[in-house]
Amino acid sequence: MKKYNEYPGFLEVVKLASCGSTNDYLRENYRRYERDFPILVTASRQSAGRGRAGRTWDSPAGMGLYSSFGFFLPVGVSLNLLPLAAGISVVEALAGISGVRGFGLKWPNDILYSGRKICGILVDNMVQKERIFCITGIGINLNQQAVDFPRELRDRAISLKTITGKTYEIEAVNKALSHIFFSWVEKLKSGGNKEIVEAAGRLSEFLKGRPIAFHRGDKITEGVFKGLNHDGGLLLAAPNGDKKIYYSGEIVTKLRLLRREELERKHRQGYTEKPVEKGEFSDFEDEQLWGD
Ligand code: BTN
Repeated sequence: MKKYNEYPGFLEVVKLASCGSTNDYLRENYRRYERDFPILVTASRQSAGRGRAGRTWDSPAGMGLYSSFGFFLPVGVSLNLLPLAAGISVVEALAGISGVRGFGLKWPNDILYSGRKICGILVDNMVQKERIFCITGIGINLNQQAVDFPRELRDRAISLKTITGKTYEIEAVNKALSHIFFSWVEKLKSGGNKEIVEAAGRLSEFLKGRPIAFHRGDKITEGVFKGLNHDGGLLLAAPNGDKKIYYSGEIVTKLRLLRREELERKHRQGYTEKPVEKGEFSDFEDEQLWGD
């Protein structure tokens, strides 16, 4: 694996000791940096790290990589491939740094190891007249021990340290990731869509043929994961045999759906929300398979 001792020369790097969220920082401040070259905003800790679907991203100092890449893409580029390109880059960077193989991509942009989540990606796009300012936020669990994760995440999250026993220099991962990510962004810009979809398809192979619940907007659809279509959409075989293609949404566990239904039911009955203990729904599918 190639060694990356520096950040790419074309990248402006903004290092923060702390911020709310690197994605929000870029969104609020990008005009200050607005030029044609890309920016990386990285923070040692985040006090309000954001996840997808309104979730939070636990971001203590020294434990993880919290980075957002900001750059312009021309209108017309397949934006739905950007999360896939980011996910592929994370897998390549982590494999290069640690030698670990066996990471999987849970469409569209979670990276799993042994069914547990090691990385989450949050893409925020700002459409301008002729171009799009893309913010690709990446959170990677690097140096946590199991006990460092919040209790409710302990059996769903994993870090590189818990896999290899080693501690990682966060900046080294950032440097490797920056090089690899922008090489995939270049592929995206130059129409290398097929290469991105194929690489993402290979990383999603572990889910193929598995029953999944798919959540989009208010709608939940169950079916069997059939892989990715030619332009990066998720292929789902519904129970009636219909094949559906999705370009946004999230694969979720039955467990999480049940947890939500349970909370909604309690809410309707006038109870205040209480944390759901693990095992409460133990008859159902094991969420460790999915890491969501
Ligand atoms: C998810 O899996 O829900 C996405 C998590 C994304 C977390 C990263 S950490 C850096 C960037 N800043 C944020 O506030 N979120 C992203």
